[in-house]
Amino acid sequence: MTDARPGADGAAQTAAHPAIRFQNIGLVYGRGTANEVEALKDVSFDVRPQEFVSILGPSGCGKSTLLRLVAGFLNPTSGSVSVGGVDPENARTNGLLGVVFQSPVLLQWRNVIENVGFLLELQGVPRRKRQETARHYIDLVGLGGFERHMPHQLSGGMQQRVSIARALAFGPSVLLMDEPFGALDALTRDRMAFDLLDIWKRDKKTVLFVTHSVQEAVFLSDVVIVMTARPGKVGLIRPIDLGRPRTKDHRLQMEFVEHCRVLLDELEADVGYH
Ligand SMILES: Nc1ncnc2c1ncn2[C@@H]1O[C@H](COP(=O)(O)OP(=O)(O)O)[C@@H](O)[C@H]1O
Ligand SMILES: [Mg+2]
Repeated sequence: MTDARPGADGAAQTAAHPAIRFQNIGLVYGRGTANEVEALKDVSFDVRPQEFVSILGPSGCGKSTLLRLVAGFLNPTSGSVSVGGVDPENARTNGLLGVVFQSPVLLQWRNVIENVGFLLELQGVPRRKRQETARHYIDLVGLGGFERHMPHQLSGGMQQRVSIARALAFGPSVLLMDEPFGALDALTRDRMAFDLLDIWKRDKKTVLFVTHSVQEAVFLSDVVIVMTARPGKVGLIRPIDLGRPRTKDHRLQMEFVEHCRVLLDELEADVGYH
């Protein structure tokens, strides 16, 4: 098993720095070309260590772009992003970041256990240790018994759970998740939400989570951020002061429903449903 105790996973957990800091971020795709798109404008917010923060916003408002900036796959046109006080590329190469994309990106010619252990292999972790860690996370996402299956033998939801296990397996302190449950059926999605909260709490991770579901965002998060339509800006930052651990009963509470209503109003106001 990977060592994911608090303090075992590096700079992103130090109290002196926010886990993620966006400072006046602007992002323009194709600058100076006919296809120029201003995706983000003046985005500033912090995610604190071990906080669970969700982002809601209309399609095309720059949610995936924000995650790509944190992952160091993209550089901002203006402003700066830091992860635990260091630049994103540095954080990624030091293994502080785990990324789960909207659709699973698996190596088709490798079985489940080899896919889950892949990032550990890149880090030079010996085979036995790799397999042991991979097995632990395969069990955790409910895929025990499927270690030797190939990706094409799994449903879309199972493939997505493989990519979640892979992201968790090398013990990143910051987890970036881009609509990770979008392809799952409602029951599996619900179960994965509980599993994710267990993992988050136990391994003391910071999570930045993109979703289209207002209820999912409220259920999971400490803070929900609503972004406005393109160019994406921060429309609302709403702390979710429901107790933890979250249970099914939380969804029936007045406070839960009220959080959902406020967030939905903000979303709808922006796309002009009123
Ligand atoms: N690689 C790219 N090149 C040009 N435009 C892009 C690229 N990626 C995204 N965009 C544009 O930037 C905007 C924000 O995209 P994205 O971050 O994917 O939004 P979201 O994830 O919120 O749906 C959209 O208008 C999209 O068309
Ligand atoms: Mg997206």
